[in-house]
Amino acid sequence: QRIIGIMGALPEEINGVVNLLQNKEEHRIGKRIYYTGTINNQSVIVVYSRIGKVAAAATVSTLILKFNITELIFTGVAGGIASDLKIGDIVLGTELVQHDMDASPLFPEFEIPLIGKSHFKSDKDLLQLGENSIQQILENSYLHQVIEEKYLDQFNIHHPKLHLGLIASGDQFFKNSTQKNKLLTVLPATKCVEMEGAAVAQICYEFDIPFIIIRTISDEADQHSTIDFMKFTEKISNIYSIEIIKNIIK
Ligand code: ADE
Repeated sequence: QRIIGIMGALPEEINGVVNLLQNKEEHRIGKRIYYTGTINNQSVIVVYSRIGKVAAAATVSTLILKFNITELIFTGVAGGIASDLKIGDIVLGTELVQHDMDASPLFPEFEIPLIGKSHFKSDKDLLQLGENSIQQILENSYLHQVIEEKYLDQFNIHHPKLHLGLIASGDQFFKNSTQKNKLLTVLPATKCVEMEGAAVAQICYEFDIPFIIIRTISDEADQHSTIDFMKFTEKISNIYSIEIIKNIIK
């Protein structure tokens, strides 16, 4: 029997999904609330970890060890790094890397010491499922309608696109182009940055739990990122999470 962990960093990224739960129950562990229940008769556990790699790693460990999840879906926002990413686009992380891990010269930059890896791959089947579900949403759903009606001008969102590629995570909020350009010189394939995905990926790898990380671009990781991030998370990140999770579970 499948038990799906659904995780985000902030309440704004996950509350909408909590509201979808049938037979909802709350479990308090380690100053977090884990909501168990079903969506479309599928058992799920939904939780927000709070921001950062440590918070995310602790939360996913609890999902694995206490709630016996068989797979994990992470949904939330990210700062766009690649120049073709626009606010409102969605990124499926094919691979995740911790951009602030550097134990050189003992280990190569970015490598997780004693694991011998720097990049963690999302599960192939979940990626395929995620790709199909998200393409479908972007083509014809309510999400699109809401964005067009309410938010098109505000966020300058044109037709949102799906991108697949590398996501870089670290305990840093990107707020200027210097940070962004520095990252692009060391990890040029990076699509977007956030603060949890690669920590989740490492723990899932260590416990053999298939996962996918799905990120909506809330800002362009530049001097406007703080304002854009706050507006986007307040107003639309939940709409994206709800539509994405509903469609994937279906
Ligand atoms: N998540 C969303 N926007 C971000 C940014 N600019 N830096 C890091 N994480 C983010």
